[in-house]
Amino acid sequence: MPVLDGFRKFKRLRLFELSVCVALIFIATAFVICFFFYLQYREQTAPFRPSDLVEEQYHSVEFVEEKGGECDWFDGDWVWDESYPLYESKDCRFLDIGFRCSENGRPDLFYKKWRWQPKNCNLPRFRDFNCTVEYYRSTFLVVQGRPPTGSSGNITYTLKVDKMDWNSVKWRDADVLVFNTGHWWNHEKTIRSGCYFQEGDEVKLEMKIEDAYKKSIETVLNWIQDSVNATKTQVFFRSYSPVHFRGGDWRHGGSCHIETLPDSGSSMVPDDNWLKFKIANSVLLEHTNISETIKVNVLNVTQMTAPRKDGHLSIYYLGPKAGPVPLHRQDCSHWCLPGVPDTWNELLYGMFLDHEGELIQGTSNTNSSHRAF
Ligand SMILES: *[C@@H]1O[C@H](CO)[C@@H](O)[C@H](O)[C@H]1NC(C)=O
Ligand SMILES: *[C@@H]1O[C@H](CO)[C@@H](O)[C@H](O)[C@H]1NC(C)=O
Ligand SMILES: *[C@@H]1O[C@H](CO)[C@@H](O)[C@H](O)[C@H]1NC(C)=O
Ligand SMILES: *[C@@H]1O[C@H](CO)[C@@H](O)[C@H](O)[C@H]1NC(C)=O
Ligand SMILES: *[C@@H]1O[C@H](CO)[C@@H](O)[C@H](O)[C@H]1NC(C)=O
Ligand SMILES: *[C@@H]1O[C@H](CO)[C@@H](O)[C@H](O)[C@H]1NC(C)=O
Repeated sequence: MPVLDGFRKFKRLRLFELSVCVALIFIATAFVICFFFYLQYREQTAPFRPSDLVEEQYHSVEFVEEKGGECDWFDGDWVWDESYPLYESKDCRFLDIGFRCSENGRPDLFYKKWRWQPKNCNLPRFRDFNCTVEYYRSTFLVVQGRPPTGSSGNITYTLKVDKMDWNSVKWRDADVLVFNTGHWWNHEKTIRSGCYFQEGDEVKLEMKIEDAYKKSIETVLNWIQDSVNATKTQVFFRSYSPVHFRGGDWRHGGSCHIETLPDSGSSMVPDDNWLKFKIANSVLLEHTNISETIKVNVLNVTQMTAPRKDGHLSIYYLGPKAGPVPLHRQDCSHWCLPGVPDTWNELLYGMFLDHEGELIQGTSNTNSSHRAF
């Protein structure tokens, strides 16, 4: 989970753990910075390019939208754009090696050429921001720790679903908070590994993963309500990003390495992904209803990401020297960069500007329903 406020943490990520979804966010947010440098570089080196014209057009549509239309950033299409990619991984030092697919031997390039086009507006391009990005890895967002003394020996850990991650004191004062959790809420990462759920002092052996997930999201929202200064901090919750293993899951030879194009028709979102999305979303809606002070913007990336079966690391995550991994060890969960997570950042930026605009117009307190909800 990234926190904008000082780029201090840079963690080595374990790519073999296919479900480390949060790892992506770090890279994704790092891109904000790269993009900033890219824009500066481009301004210095290229006074005019055909794509500048395209940008002009974006801006005019943007203005139309600002004049009063409602825009759902997440309703749109992936369109081919010759001006993409906007950067290459070799020019961005913030990317971890595992995400540099082209450098790692991925031969096809089309996956870098798609731009997200919302139906009724255009995504704004980044302006210069002197911002810093922090990343905190917290796969569950709640506390994972030792079980209460006297617990059965087969309980190695518990997830304390009613206690916010201790690190949260470090995030609290950020200007922008982006949360995400989901992929680790599965049987392998919890109960099968001896990690049970705990409420208060009691280990709940029977608690289902979905219920534990729901309670944890509630804990996060309560924490936001009690500990985050809503005047200062914008809070975002990014929804689940779908995986695209075909012919098996990540442990059973599932693959995606032959995918070079996005889905054009209906897209596969695994049922489990949808289920988590719905749980998180229902909790968020309930809370918005209860309290006007808590405004959590949902980065609703699940649906718009679903067609991008072409965007995953597949067998190109071990670095240029190691070469592609065996076909049965594919990663169809994490994403190549440049690629899909860059778009999540553009969406984040769009929503951020929306919010700033509302503040300027002084409407944020009178109209609490955010369009992205
Ligand atoms: C998320 O976006 C999709 C596509 O626009 C839409 O169908 C869905 O209702 C959205 N969900 C939320 C909670 O905004
Ligand atoms: C960014 O902000 C820091 C601290 O306020 C300042 O020292 C630095 O010069 C700024 N950098 C740019 C590029 O504006
Ligand atoms: C752990 O122990 C509890 C109670 O002794 C039992 O109900 C549960 O099934 C055990 N779990 C595993 C994974 O062995
Ligand atoms: C909340 O943030 C605002 C804006 O930065 C500040 O003026 C206010 O004092 C803060 N409130 C608290 C309780 O810290
Ligand atoms: C929100 O509150 C209103 C009025 O109390 C109620 O009618 C509505 O069903 C609630 N919505 C949700 C999503 O809980
Ligand atoms: C609040 O939203 C409603 C409906 O979306 C709109 O009619 C009204 O003008 C808005 N109020 C303000 C103060 O912007």
